[in-house]
Amino acid sequence: MNIEMDLYNSSEIIIKAMRPFGRFIEELGFLGTPYSTAIEMAAKKFPECKTFFKIHPKNGIQIKNEYLFADYKINEIKLSNSKTRKEWILPYSLKNKKLVDAVVAMNLGNPQSLSQIESLPAELKSKFLSFLNVETSTKSLIENANPKKYSRPGIYRFQHACCMIRTKKAGVLIDPTFQWVRPDFETQLFKARDIVPNVDAIMLTHAHCDHFHVGTLMHFPKDMPILVPEKKPSSLASPCMPSLLKSLGFTNVMPLPWNSEFKVKDINIKVLSYYGEQVTATEKIYKGLYNWGNTYLIQTPNGNIWPLADTGQDLQGSMVQVAEQLKAEGAKIHGILGGMRECEMRSAWAVGGLRRWLCMSPKQRLGIYHKNGVQGEANALGLKGVIAVIDQLRPDWFLPYNHGFFKLGDVKPFEKTNVKNLKKELKKRKITTKVYTWTIGDYLSLP
Ligand SMILES: [Fe+2]
Repeated sequence: MNIEMDLYNSSEIIIKAMRPFGRFIEELGFLGTPYSTAIEMAAKKFPECKTFFKIHPKNGIQIKNEYLFADYKINEIKLSNSKTRKEWILPYSLKNKKLVDAVVAMNLGNPQSLSQIESLPAELKSKFLSFLNVETSTKSLIENANPKKYSRPGIYRFQHACCMIRTKKAGVLIDPTFQWVRPDFETQLFKARDIVPNVDAIMLTHAHCDHFHVGTLMHFPKDMPILVPEKKPSSLASPCMPSLLKSLGFTNVMPLPWNSEFKVKDINIKVLSYYGEQVTATEKIYKGLYNWGNTYLIQTPNGNIWPLADTGQDLQGSMVQVAEQLKAEGAKIHGILGGMRECEMRSAWAVGGLRRWLCMSPKQRLGIYHKNGVQGEANALGLKGVIAVIDQLRPDWFLPYNHGFFKLGDVKPFEKTNVKNLKKELKKRKITTKVYTWTIGDYLSLP
């Protein structure tokens, strides 16, 4: 049995609470309603949201500082049973933490999970068994692990930005996310019990929940080295990962500054800059609400690999400049993994979603209100940025990734189109980088 789990921190709870409010305002924008009227109507329709903001006399809503900057805590658990498609949301309390431990042990195929389930408080246990759809015997809950499936040296593509790079001696995992319940998913695609034994270190690029997925991280040993961006003030744009991970019991969390290095057996990891995917690419970042991140150059005996995650360009710099710098230093990059989504700053619902909308200044939010999705200020690499980075570094190969959550063997149609266009453009420029196609669940041996 495999249960998918999310652990939400209070910044995500603010976003969830404000989501219908933001969506309603955007709909009114599409209808041409004046902004001040839309704010008034939304505040009336969702009175519970008023706690999060003040009405700004000229520019609409202003999120209160106490919500923009906080020491966010894990405070909600969501369990999803992909077989029955049932969901169960409960507070992350002292009592319910035992349930998290039981789910993790069960997902890892640990026989002790049965006694953990048995020892849950009576009411919690009976609710959990009913959620699992189990009448009496819990024995069937334990499934054996198959770690050999992921033990060969090479690159494994899991969901979205989650990839594992394995050498003969070690395995490193980037932005782990094994799960994502979608209505058409019959079973979980990637099982922690098969992957966890092959991992020696984890790298997290930034704090967005599709890259910093706490529910997946909980399946790893508490002393697993977890490399994270340097500790900066915790804000709605970038909740503090080290504090959140430490509060969950992780003991080997390493906030690493750019240009530092970390060794995992025969793999050397060089921490590089992360630019892009900010609230805005061209305007002043409101109150310093910056999305802090790292990229990692993974140096293996089979080559140096640079996954680019959600990066692009912002006011501080761009990944193309980082590539130029690497070229100037004479660095050899053998492989690049990159996303080709444009991630334009359009509306509350563009990539980055409501988090970005809430982190805007009141004036910036007003500025996009009547744009109806056409502002087009790209702050992710997109196809053009990927071409520019490849042009600088001339890697041996390129792999598309970071394009969302799909079934095994599937990718978004735009990935196929972009790969085609990328190949065409590289050929035109006489760049010999080989662009591989692969899908969710694929494995490639390192050339
Ligand atoms: Fe992101």
